[in-house]
Amino acid sequence: MPKQINGQKKGSVIPNDLSDSFEEVKAFLSDEDTLHLFDDLTKVNPVTTTTVLKCLQARYAGNVFYTNAGCSLVTVNPFQPISSLYSPELMKEYHAALRPQELKPHVFAVAEQTYRNVQSQIEPVNQSIIVSGESGAGKTWTSRCLMKFYATVAASTTSPKGNEMVERIERRVLDSNPVMEAFGNACTLRNNNSSRFGKYIQLQLNRSQHLTSASIQTFLLEKTRVAYQAPCERNFHIFYQITKGATKKERAEWKLHKGANFFWLPNPEKDLEEDCFGVTRDAMFHLGIDCSTQNNIFKVLAGLLHLGNIQFSSSIDESQPCEPEDDAKGFVKTTADLLKMSAEELLETLRIRTITAGKQQQVFKKPCSRSDCETRRDCLAKVIYAKLFDWLVSVINESIYADSSTWGNFIGLLDVYGFESFPENNLEQLCINYANEKLQQHFVAHYLKAQQQLAQKLTCAYTDIKKML
Ligand SMILES: Nc1ncnc2c1ncn2[C@@H]1O[C@H](COP(=O)(O)OP(=O)(O)OP(=O)(O)O)[C@@H](O)[C@H]1O
Ligand SMILES: [Mg+2]
Repeated sequence: MPKQINGQKKGSVIPNDLSDSFEEVKAFLSDEDTLHLFDDLTKVNPVTTTTVLKCLQARYAGNVFYTNAGCSLVTVNPFQPISSLYSPELMKEYHAALRPQELKPHVFAVAEQTYRNVQSQIEPVNQSIIVSGESGAGKTWTSRCLMKFYATVAASTTSPKGNEMVERIERRVLDSNPVMEAFGNACTLRNNNSSRFGKYIQLQLNRSQHLTSASIQTFLLEKTRVAYQAPCERNFHIFYQITKGATKKERAEWKLHKGANFFWLPNPEKDLEEDCFGVTRDAMFHLGIDCSTQNNIFKVLAGLLHLGNIQFSSSIDESQPCEPEDDAKGFVKTTADLLKMSAEELLETLRIRTITAGKQQQVFKKPCSRSDCETRRDCLAKVIYAKLFDWLVSVINESIYADSSTWGNFIGLLDVYGFESFPENNLEQLCINYANEKLQQHFVAHYLKAQQQLAQKLTCAYTDIKKML
């Protein structure tokens, strides 16, 4: 056996899976009882998929879910609430620690180190944390943990503009989560609360390191989900929230009668904790969205559900527009009412194509085929939903915004939606998978670099020790 120091062989270089000798891997894994002790994956040697996974598995078996990998943190989803892991006491412990990185690997250690990096004003002063991983890995959960951490340790000392009625900035920042998740998350095959959009939030700090404001940017909302849900998946949570949580009066106003069937509301029998309408409404209030505005939003959403029930029959004569099927006529009327337009205008939008052509810019109107009518119906729903989502983000931003003169630095948190592979992948999924792969490549390169640096350091230490002997 070659001589080793701290698990590193003399002069070892990073082996790759191909050149690894089977013997080395076997030797490393033979010491089963010590595998869970590797709290930094850069110390694993040789680095192979097997050795790294075995270490993570051994730690997971001992209820240890966090492991460092150089400056990155690897999290394995426990899939069960472990209250002591996120207690306020633990948060304080990491915040007060002399060297947080020397405590056990934890998301709070990353959060605290990032906070201190900003405080120390050493370039780059602004910091961002990228939370990446496949769907269901725990990115959104982790982002929420980070936001709670900063809302606690960077809590502002003053009340908002001396107004008791306005919620504190930390509360508003945290309340943006349930609202955005209600409108942007959905139950998929892999995750009951899957983010169907990417989010980058900047937490803005003043000179005293207090949270003064924030801003949110969103990416690639999967708007196709409004009009199409894969088998066993669901539409965005908010649709289930309004159908399950509306009061009797609202039900009547939004035309969401108990037991009504909507094509765009599959699997409503699945009861999820994410279906809680009250939480969304309260959070919307705290963000300054009043009762009447909320009512208008939910009416539009109910309108979309009715829109999805409008089916057309083929027209015998191509020059004539397709008629809605008999039992869909009522849905045309309710959709139009809820979207505050006339039934004629709605039908014209769905059934008639307007073409502008020629030098004179002549306008032609052409009736659409049945399948075109249905495509137009789906497009209308997607456009309305995407505009509503963007508007909501802008309202949230207004609520958490402060003039840039009031803050100096920021901590950014990126929660992109995870890698997934469906039997049929749409353009949105292709883009998000591409973004995830790029991020992964970036961090694997970082990890390998850290591993190499550690190997070099140990080699030097080994040489020094040899000289001393
Ligand atoms: N640290 C944790 N402790 C306990 N449960 C967790 C933790 N992290 C994640 N979970 C559980 O796993 C589920 C999925 O996590 P999350 O929604 O954060 O995944 P995600 O990576 O954001 O996935 P997607 O890419 O689909 O949005 C959560 O709803 C929660 O039940
Ligand atoms: Mg998520």
